[in-house]
Amino acid sequence: LTVPVITIDGPTASGKGTVAHRVAKHLGFHYLDSGALYRLTALSASRHGVALDDEEALANLARVLPCQFVKGHVLLDGEDVTDAVRAEAIGVAASKIAVLPKVRQALFDLQVAFRYAPGLVADGRDMGTVIFPDATQKVYLTASVDARASRRYKQLKEKGFPATMEDLVKDLAERDARDTARSAAPLKPAPGAYILDTSEMTVDQAVQTVLDLYVNAV
Ligand code: C5P
Repeated sequence: LTVPVITIDGPTASGKGTVAHRVAKHLGFHYLDSGALYRLTALSASRHGVALDDEEALANLARVLPCQFVKGHVLLDGEDVTDAVRAEAIGVAASKIAVLPKVRQALFDLQVAFRYAPGLVADGRDMGTVIFPDATQKVYLTASVDARASRRYKQLKEKGFPATMEDLVKDLAERDARDTARSAAPLKPAPGAYILDTSEMTVDQAVQTVLDLYVNAV
């Protein structure tokens, strides 16, 4: 019996984290925020003074990442880094190390291990293409750069991080380019993925759409 998986891939700040989390909660499934693993590796690198282009050393950090996910909190080496990993600079660093094949390989087993009963909702860039190619339902969640920048702006301000719309649009465009242009697991809709553009949608509508897709898939 295979454990059901819903994959939600898409660009930065498309809202996939919020939607994936809500869908998981509704179904009583586990939730994998795969971006957090790249962010944790980037944070760990910055704390250990490892350069963002030292593929071997980064892969070694990623392979034994001392992280825990407890009730919506992310711990690194036992320290609560939930807010620290969300910082924009860490997101940018994460997208730089995510181009390195050895880092991606080092995080593979950890991601696959999140799939256990009763089911999993996994969000990221390559959940449907690389990590869970046999997913029950694949979704590619996207939104316009402007919609994504203003959502990210609100999020950062709420958390007390400095941000300007101008910088965010530039950052998003750069990260989109890096995520889609890289040769290792580039961001693209998985074969068979449902393309969900949420530019004009509320979170509730997006969540309901994914739930309906899943119900029809099983
Ligand atoms: O989704 P999030 O913004 O937290 O991801 C941070 C970075 O990690 C992304 O910009 C992307 O480059 C990388 N990432 C990835 N593959 C994933 C998840 C995230 O390459 N499955």
